[in-house]
Amino acid sequence: MSGRLRGPGAGVAGGDASGTGVDPARVVALTEREEAVFAARHQRCGALHERARASMPGGVPMSWMAKWAGPFPLSVATASGSRFTCADGVEFVDLCLGDTGAMTGHSPPAAVAAVARQAARGITLMLPTEDAAVVAEELTSRFGLPQWQFTLSATDANRHVVRYARHLTGRPRVLVADACYHGSVDETFATLDREGRVVPRRGNIGPPVPPSATTSVVQFNDVAAVERELSTGEIACVLMEPAMTNVGIVLPEPGYHEALRSLTEQHGTVLVLDETHTLCAGPGGMTAADRLRPDVVTLGKALGSGVPCGAFGMTAEVADRVRRSVELEDVDVGGVGGTLAGNALSLAAMRATLQQVLTPDAFAGMLPLGARWAEGVAGVLADQQVPWHVTRLGARAEYAFAPVPPRTGREAAAADDFPLQTLLHLSALNAGILLTPFHNMALLAPTTTAEDVDRHTAAFAAVLEELVA
Ligand SMILES: Cc1ncc(COP(=O)(O)O)c(C=O)c1O
Repeated sequence: MSGRLRGPGAGVAGGDASGTGVDPARVVALTEREEAVFAARHQRCGALHERARASMPGGVPMSWMAKWAGPFPLSVATASGSRFTCADGVEFVDLCLGDTGAMTGHSPPAAVAAVARQAARGITLMLPTEDAAVVAEELTSRFGLPQWQFTLSATDANRHVVRYARHLTGRPRVLVADACYHGSVDETFATLDREGRVVPRRGNIGPPVPPSATTSVVQFNDVAAVERELSTGEIACVLMEPAMTNVGIVLPEPGYHEALRSLTEQHGTVLVLDETHTLCAGPGGMTAADRLRPDVVTLGKALGSGVPCGAFGMTAEVADRVRRSVELEDVDVGGVGGTLAGNALSLAAMRATLQQVLTPDAFAGMLPLGARWAEGVAGVLADQQVPWHVTRLGARAEYAFAPVPPRTGREAAAADDFPLQTLLHLSALNAGILLTPFHNMALLAPTTTAEDVDRHTAAFAAVLEELVA
């Protein structure tokens, strides 16, 4: 399901101060060249961006969409399967896939048909449709959790679960992994400083209270730290991805999940696994693939082929405790839910996605492509003697600028090099390939082909050859 592929080891190519094995001056020079190529090729995208800047900060509908390599973001004309075409008519292989929202491939016909059908007969009703129970049953069979609720995003699912955990345990704090990301959930924007104190993570915009008041932070894979924090008796829930995927990929070490489970059980803490990204490991995420036993699983993004949706699944015990402790009269104002949550359109999209798109058969095709991508990149690293490595989790793989895979979020974050990443993304774009903007990650959809993967390998080989020349 997952694997670590190492680069050739320490320090071979070129004297550099950054520790990446490449010369930063070369990175700057190549970036300038690639920016010029990009701007010349995408004049219509550039013009659309100029127009958009007059009415939107950064010329984008949401600030994240400004964080692309290149002088301006591409403007998309159409997208289908694993490809999209920009406003200049250039076609791209999409290995970003909406940062997982389109892990299904863009606009899969089954989901489009289901959404069109449902849109014509009611979009949102504040009443259940038949699809709701079908989706819940499908998720139960995949994740082994018997009770489900639906939201509009993975962020909402995490937010709601954190509230329930506090409510059920009467405890104030959440335990997360350093350098985690779980959506815009206030409690999770915390990090550890060099002295081990909980501080706001860099860029945390307007925290309502200092995160140290709500959150404890440990390094991923550090069992002793989890034990220490849980023994304070203050932790309502542990909220973690089963493998970290938002700071590069950090895989769990053998025994980590068993320890998390037994420690949380021992201390009466709710164990929440966020499978929003790790669904790439298989039809039931890592929960099924690695036989994990969380109290709660949260999901979102690809679950509806990109139609806004989220979900959380609970054990019978958690669901029962919620049922017994929340008054019917108060459910609409308690801080869990929303008028559009669980709407008919999202549920139709989720039903089609689960039953016809992200099927076990689809994963059987996606996982070998993940391996092919990782092996291709590892081969290039070995050929070019660059001290980087590749890590893979199912249909998701990533290279990082350090010789060995990280054990913790802190180690993964330390391997970051934004200028180098920008160059690699930009040169990929100029070779017709889109990577996930926030790190060097590729995601393979049911519609991705071996040729798509090999195209990336060839483009990666070409830019690395120039970088280390
Ligand atoms: C693990 C994880 N959980 C939750 C989220 C939040 O997803 P959304 O922004 O769609 O709510 C993300 C987003 O990247 C994520 O990576």
